[in-house]
Amino acid sequence: DPLHPIADERRYLIPFRSALLPHLFTDVIVVGSGVAGLQAALTAAEHSDVVVLAKGSLDESNTAYAQGGIAAVADTENDDIEGHLRDTMVAGAGLCDEAVVRRIVSRASEQMSQLAELGMPFDLDADGRVALGREGGHRAARILHAHGDATGRALSDTLITAVRNHESIRVFENCFALDLLTDEAEPDHCLGVITHHPRHGLQVIWAAATILATGGSGQVYRETTNPNVATGDGLAMAYRAGAEVADLEFNQFHPTALYLAGASRLLISEAVRGEGATLVNSQGERFMTGIHELAELAPRDIVAGAIYRQLADSGDTSVFLDTRHIGAERFHKRFPSITAMLRQFDIEPSTDLIPIRPAAHYAIGGVWVGESGRTNLAGLYACGEVACTGLHGANRLASNSLLEGLVCGEEVGLHCRAAVEEERRAPRRIVSDVTGADRPVDLDDIFQSLKSVMWRHVGIERSGDALADAIARLDLWASYSLEGVFEERESWEVQNLLWVASLIARAAAQRQESRGTHCRTDFPETDQELAMHLTWRRGQHSPGRETSMPQR
Ligand code: FAD
Ligand code: SIN
Repeated sequence: DPLHPIADERRYLIPFRSALLPHLFTDVIVVGSGVAGLQAALTAAEHSDVVVLAKGSLDESNTAYAQGGIAAVADTENDDIEGHLRDTMVAGAGLCDEAVVRRIVSRASEQMSQLAELGMPFDLDADGRVALGREGGHRAARILHAHGDATGRALSDTLITAVRNHESIRVFENCFALDLLTDEAEPDHCLGVITHHPRHGLQVIWAAATILATGGSGQVYRETTNPNVATGDGLAMAYRAGAEVADLEFNQFHPTALYLAGASRLLISEAVRGEGATLVNSQGERFMTGIHELAELAPRDIVAGAIYRQLADSGDTSVFLDTRHIGAERFHKRFPSITAMLRQFDIEPSTDLIPIRPAAHYAIGGVWVGESGRTNLAGLYACGEVACTGLHGANRLASNSLLEGLVCGEEVGLHCRAAVEEERRAPRRIVSDVTGADRPVDLDDIFQSLKSVMWRHVGIERSGDALADAIARLDLWASYSLEGVFEERESWEVQNLLWVASLIARAAAQRQESRGTHCRTDFPETDQELAMHLTWRRGQHSPGRETSMPQR
């Protein structure tokens, strides 16, 4: 089922002639300033000149919102690499690549030491050892955290300071990457990016190596823990440029987002359940104990699915986290940011139940990369949430994504040296002659409608009929919105979300089984024949079916 012809044929979002735009040359351009982009930049800057782009300020990223922490084996008396590997593979429901998982989890402890050297303020326990939390799917305490529940903010601050102090790195904030550049004569080679800055306008940045680290696409769903920046721009621009993308049907829903009308879906970290919080329904009954041996600490897909069933069966709008037995002092000390956030809504965790329900949290699929972070386009690399590395399989294990960003960011930063040494960055004349149809389209209305249809039809439970309905609606909206040419970031983001939503819905329709985060009510069983990745590329009318990650 191909994408709507407009979505499949359109190469660039805007018309331009590269020869008429201001140019900038660099060895390496990194698009994104979350954990993956900053880590890639710091590593690449040891051998090359680097430019880092962020569409907002450097600290507007999913990374800065991370709460629970970073998974790494630290307590070697009670835990080991095999345990971390096994838990990751079990959560991933048959789609993790074992070699990739081993590579990444084995490097966790060295990454934690490097971060500590950079000044990351990991929390310590009473004996002065690094404090370790528990989260869903982990059979050992192995989550390192900082300032209790503000790990992401601490990580982002630590890496930003290092990047700002590095003399080989230039940072451009409020600089929106519109598209990756390729020359028609050599379409499988990425030459850099075209960007837009509200004050300086359009610019072409030519780079020997382009690293996509643009994060996820949670904004494609009405209910999401992700901040506004998570609009899937990197995935959409990679697809337009001809890069392969994969595993898009696997979207992780976090079980516990605060559910209060008028409040955004603020995350209540899984680490809260790691400290003993239970889940109860409106009758006050615990419901996870009969469902999984790890009860509230079962892998995320299982807890989110169980909550979804509770809500569907009861008609309630939320279930509740019961944190009352943890004690006011302990809760506040361990979760200072969550306590402060709840108090803004007059919820006191030591006396009140916390209303929660699942929300879209993490894009498991992404740009299809091999061990070095290389894509199928020469000169184009991807790392972090925008990439699909084979670590997460069909369901990501909690706190493995900051780890993936650190390890794969570093690997991409090292490997991109090969592209820099090829020195193929003479500017070309690139002409985009897309013309915009003159139609009065309210993209904000499309944005809200898209988020609703994705939540209802391509959310926690999916069926063939609902997916077909979602695809038909998305195609209709694409038919007039993707033709238009717009002039500001918010409109480009909605256009990108239309690409991303269309790809996710098609991938979900293709996978006729239930596995990990992908739950089909019409195909409730896992089909061993489908233990494979569905890959998508512009112009190919059916997905590729791959049983292993690409070798590149
Ligand atoms: P991000 O951190 O999202 O950064 C993306 C960057 O790309 C931003 O700088 C943005 O400006 C830039 N960008 C995007 N599009 C463009 C464009 N068009 N032009 C220019 N720049 C662009 N994971 C864990 O492992 N542990 C946790 O405890 C944890 N908690 C989480 C809590 C919350 C609330 C959320 C939302 C996620 C959490 N995650 C956690 C997931 C984790 O935070 C993310 O997967 C990870 O931070 C992604 O990092 P990244 O570098 O790939 O992207
Ligand atoms: C959380 O703190 O619950 C989020 C952890 C994660 O997404 O890995």
